[in-house]
Amino acid sequence: MKTRSHKRALKTLERILSKAGLGSRTEARRWIHQGRVQINGTVVQHPDAWVDLTRDRVRFDGRPLEARERLSILLYKPTGYLTTYRDPEGRPTVYDLTTSIKTFLSPVGRLDLDTSGLLVMTNDTQIAERITNPESHVPKTYLVKASTVLTDEQLQRLRDGIPLRDGLTRPATVTRLRDSSKYTHVEITVTEGRNRQVRRMIEALGAHALKLVRVQIGPLRIGTLPIGKWRHLTDEEIAALLQFRSMPL
Ligand code: URA
Repeated sequence: MKTRSHKRALKTLERILSKAGLGSRTEARRWIHQGRVQINGTVVQHPDAWVDLTRDRVRFDGRPLEARERLSILLYKPTGYLTTYRDPEGRPTVYDLTTSIKTFLSPVGRLDLDTSGLLVMTNDTQIAERITNPESHVPKTYLVKASTVLTDEQLQRLRDGIPLRDGLTRPATVTRLRDSSKYTHVEITVTEGRNRQVRRMIEALGAHALKLVRVQIGPLRIGTLPIGKWRHLTDEEIAALLQFRSMPL
């Protein structure tokens, strides 16, 4: 007898293909009719065929579907690359750095053209949602080179919250890394993802960010990944991200 949870694992073939991010359900139906889809090695041309995800193996054009199902990478985005798919002006995008990946991945959140550092790209909606949902408050850590020497009082303002046109920023963690005669280098951790947020916070102090590098998102660190390169998220990183509980700053 089928248990309730067993029943829940049954989905139609058409739905499984579209949920895997391959295309719309209409497209999925067409591919199935064209004989491009196999269940357990047999071509199945009925879009409404039941598939048991715990047992059946689906292939599309001979490739296992599971292989395409969930893919998450961490890219060290250099400056000068956009996080959009196509640029009308023809500037390079992060997709130029990930051409070997044949599955469509979306960048999770933005990094400005002039910002470098850690960018997650995924087709896993759970991962994307976890990082971008404002309720999650997943901390993001940046290294900033400010265009002036910042006083302790200015750093305290960054910690306490800066009034920006879209509201007061949440408390931030700020550490002075070093000063030169002209510049201050700080590490700043914010738990929001507003557009150009760190740059606008520094600008509110009367300075600007000469260099901005994102080095961490929650439990994910850029580590020794070379600039312009990517790697898969490990199973441990994915588990840590999904279990991540934000600590009060
Ligand atoms: N804050 C910014 O100002 N820019 C980024 O790219 C990311 C965070």
